[in-house]
Amino acid sequence: MVRIAMTGGAGLVGSKIVEILKADENFGVLMVLKQQMDITNRNLVFDTLKDLNFDVFLHLAAYTNVDKAEIEKENVRKINVEGTRNVFDAVKSMNKNFVYISTDFVFDGEKKINQKSIFFEDSKPNPVSYYGLTKYEGEKIVNGNGTIIRLSYPYRTKFDNKLDFVRSIRSLLEQGKTLSMVTDSLIVPTFIDDVAYALKTLLLKSNLNFKPEIFHLVGSQALSPYDCGKIIAKTFGLDDSLIKATTYEEYFKGKAKRPQFSDIRSMNNIFYKMSGFEDIMQNRYTF
Ligand SMILES: NC(=O)c1ccc[n+]([C@@H]2O[C@H](COP(=O)([O-])OP(=O)(O)OC[C@H]3O[C@@H](n4cnc5c(N)ncnc54)[C@H](OP(=O)(O)O)[C@@H]3O)[C@@H](O)[C@H]2O)c1
Repeated sequence: MVRIAMTGGAGLVGSKIVEILKADENFGVLMVLKQQMDITNRNLVFDTLKDLNFDVFLHLAAYTNVDKAEIEKENVRKINVEGTRNVFDAVKSMNKNFVYISTDFVFDGEKKINQKSIFFEDSKPNPVSYYGLTKYEGEKIVNGNGTIIRLSYPYRTKFDNKLDFVRSIRSLLEQGKTLSMVTDSLIVPTFIDDVAYALKTLLLKSNLNFKPEIFHLVGSQALSPYDCGKIIAKTFGLDDSLIKATTYEEYFKGKAKRPQFSDIRSMNNIFYKMSGFEDIMQNRYTF
């Protein structure tokens, strides 16, 4: 059995990973929640982890509000950089495997070669938001000594504590609201169930003998937010004429910058086939 300990197990992504790993007898899951261990408290982190019996530590806890992060910089840094350093140092002092969950927001999303903006695991990060910067600094703490997994636009079915972009758009359309959605941008939506299954496969195949590597566990289809909106409306039988086209520049005025063309792909994930957005919405999204 692979014994996993993790931070962020109550969050949008973490709670689905917990659900899927717990259903498999090959895994034991131990959640270390914020109430028990605030990752910004270094002594508490070392004290808490030394009593835990685990093979792999999954670190998901983070400050994740991209817009607010521009204002609450000190707090964001404390959690995403110092918090990551605390957990990483404690895990490494026990000689255990460390897996850090990161984001496509470490990239700038600019079109580079031949008007393309494709980001693989070895592409150079260049974050354009404070959140992205702190997640990248977290990566630099781990890089070479642990596994880094980058996600992008994660979504799932049912989760009361936090809306992802699919359920936000669904809810606004259900209320009959008009939405402006960006046409000149690319995102790669990622079904969180796929992340959990891919992670499971990775953990089992590695036989607990991890090479320090970066993996993009991301969906297999890049689309504009506008096209995503249309697919969401169709999936839930909602009025797609409420979705109006806007530009990246217009939409993000006064908000934190996001990578504009984030066509994130993987060379290193050769072990689990991630699905595309339309496929999930048509065939696997239950509601
Ligand atoms: N959502 C996205 O769009 C996205 C995209 C790419 C990558 N990611 C990455 O995926 C990971 C999980 O994201 P998510 O969307 O699931 O986040 P989330 O729902 O906001 O959950 C974050 C978790 O971190 C915990 N946490 C925050 N501050 C903490 C602290 N000081 N000590 C201990 N725990 C703390 C939170 O606990 P409380 O709830 O008790 O505060 C929460 O359980 C993050 O590392 C994020 O950077 C997310």
